Amino acid sequence: FPDTDFLRALPKAELHMHLEGSLEPELMFALAERNGITLPYADVEALRAAYEFGNLQDFLDLYYQGADALRTEQDFYDLTWAYLQRCAADGVVHVEPFFDPQTHTVRGIPIAVQLAGISRALADGQAELGISSRLILSFLRHLSEDDAIATLQEALPLREHFVAVGLDSSEQGNPPDKFERVFAMAREAGFACVAHAGEEGPADYIVQALDLLKVMRIDHGVRCVESPELVQRLISEQMPLTVCPLSNTRLKVFADMREHNILQLLEQGVKVTINSDDPAYFGGYLLANFVAVRDALKMTREQAVALARNSITASLLTDGEQQQWL
Ligand code: HPA
Ligand code: ZN
Repeated sequence: FPDTDFLRALPKAELHMHLEGSLEPELMFALAERNGITLPYADVEALRAAYEFGNLQDFLDLYYQGADALRTEQDFYDLTWAYLQRCAADGVVHVEPFFDPQTHTVRGIPIAVQLAGISRALADGQAELGISSRLILSFLRHLSEDDAIATLQEALPLREHFVAVGLDSSEQGNPPDKFERVFAMAREAGFACVAHAGEEGPADYIVQALDLLKVMRIDHGVRCVESPELVQRLISEQMPLTVCPLSNTRLKVFADMREHNILQLLEQGVKVTINSDDPAYFGGYLLANFVAVRDALKMTREQAVALARNSITASLLTDGEQQQWL
């Protein structure tokens, strides 16, 4: 089995990571102090102790509460820069992170402020750490499609900062078809599309994301196994799934890592990748997710290499840019 140094040395891309989900308790407290905010937890230990989730919504409630510590351009810079340093330590060579603009515009923080901090850190990540990046603007699916459209319109003058749109937050009851118009507008404007589907929601939500939102990747997608026909389609289209093993066990999508289906999907020919989703909340960054899969599922060297390669070829890098990592 591949040792951790081998896994670290594999060139890897991370394609499913929410910047707000990389806010570590230590930084959250530092930002709260800097911004004169009182958090509803006594200290870092008390906050970490609250990270026990029964499902996605339990997590989202804390995730949105935690994001309230982010106020200034420098806050968004510090958040993104801290994540990139973790990437460098884990052997991540390319990232395509999400940010959730509506989480911040609702608190009066303009998208321009969010993007200024995030983009400055991503530029420093390229210059100082050699990590390339493409940013994804993600809509909150528990809000209305009109709210998503207004968000896209506010972001369009800032379009040099992001290359794709995504869809996250509470999945059940908020199917992809709710966002057909805004994704059509985004495609029309030249953005690539991805969407969370088949995390807690049914296989049909994955089909909707493919047929109605015309996504180029499915985020999560692990419930595809409930439709053998869909699995065959994912294989024949080589549609990437950005799977998040530690997230799935922490949010009880799988009761135990030994029950996770990522390696079965890989062996069937589905183009799966490993990602950290919200690493500050789920107990580990990208390398920790590889290690968890290795330990629980006896991942082989060949499987690790295939997963890392998939992360590069499923990325938005051009074929020429991908070549240096293959
Ligand atoms: N699912 C849905 N919404 C999210 C997630 C997730 O895994 N992480 C952050 N927002
Ligand atoms: Zn996610």
